[in-house]
Amino acid sequence: MDGPNANVGSRGGIPIPLAGQWLNTPESFHASYALQRCRHPPRPGEDMKEGDTAANGHALNGTGLTLARADFEAAYRNVAPYIHRTPMLTNRSLCEASGFDVRLKAELFQRGGSYKLRGPLNKIARLSEEERARGVICSSAGNHSQGVALAARQYGVRAVVVMAENATRSKIAATEGYGARVVLHGNIWDEANEKALELVESEGLTYIHPFDDPELIAGQGTLGLEIMDQFPETELLIVPIGGGGLISGVSMAAKSVNPGVRIVGVESSGAPGMKRSVEAGTSVVLDDVDCMIDGLRVQKVGNHTRSVVSRFVDELVTLPDAQIFDAMLWLMTRAKVVVEGAAAAPVGALLQGLVDAPAGTRTVCVLSGGNLDVEGMRGRSWN
Ligand SMILES: Cc1ncc(COP(=O)(O)O)c(C=O)c1O
Repeated sequence: MDGPNANVGSRGGIPIPLAGQWLNTPESFHASYALQRCRHPPRPGEDMKEGDTAANGHALNGTGLTLARADFEAAYRNVAPYIHRTPMLTNRSLCEASGFDVRLKAELFQRGGSYKLRGPLNKIARLSEEERARGVICSSAGNHSQGVALAARQYGVRAVVVMAENATRSKIAATEGYGARVVLHGNIWDEANEKALELVESEGLTYIHPFDDPELIAGQGTLGLEIMDQFPETELLIVPIGGGGLISGVSMAAKSVNPGVRIVGVESSGAPGMKRSVEAGTSVVLDDVDCMIDGLRVQKVGNHTRSVVSRFVDELVTLPDAQIFDAMLWLMTRAKVVVEGAAAAPVGALLQGLVDAPAGTRTVCVLSGGNLDVEGMRGRSWN
């Protein structure tokens, strides 16, 4: 459905304009690119000071991308007309299994099947008329393609998506169905991405990075704002990590509402790029990625995202793909929802007892998407 949408929230702390008042306010994106010093615990938008430690105890380099609540509210105004306000589910079995008071933020029901629409909507909203006229481009095998294609269609902007030649037919079809031109190139994301960068040069298109872009991060962070509006009592928020765009936005947005919220990030132990990078204090390239879950399979996390995670995320945990797949099956069986691997990781972390918190802790797991590659699963075994 195009245009302002009946599912848009209208209660709680998020100032939401009435229909017809949707605004794109670049001037309110004031703190976004500032390199700031950090205090412990840092509040989004506040200055930092030398020598402070981050929420997770790692030393800070002292600078980094910091977005304030006003930035996320401005982003929310850009994305809200085009997204669903996805439901917050309860599940007694998960409460019993974990001992916590758990909610599931069901972003698998988002348009396009994942949270990935939010970032591109904000990014495109903030392009100049001239940039929009030139069109946008991205490379992705998965949800980012669909998010960019759908967001571009909402704004009437031409979109080109470069995908690897072995990309699944259903994802190619879905991306084309949203009106994007799909270019097939190479066998892996890196090769497709080279082609995308070539087209940026030759066709003057605007590149939309899948995770390491401040406006994209602000858009993804609208999910955090929505969670805090739907369940203001949230004490613990568990979020999956690939390149780190989702958790960067969600952690800063949630802490801009309540700095006391504890944020836990979950990676596949076969691709622990964020954990290694935060420990090293720089974005490291993993030599060996042993992860079959697209969304979590990233060789190098972003520079912005590493910096944000090291300041705003309290803890990083990892678990093997097999345990994440078990969590997918658990969710299908016990919660009756079909999520893709990346989205099951937070529940996997809870079921495996990787998150330590007092009994009854008010917890939200982000179920980030439901675009399961059913064809790709045929004949697979993971245990
Ligand atoms: C469904 C889903 N969840 C989580 C992620 C991880 O997001 P990020 O790369 O922003 O960390 C992705 C990334 O593609 C995804 O598709």
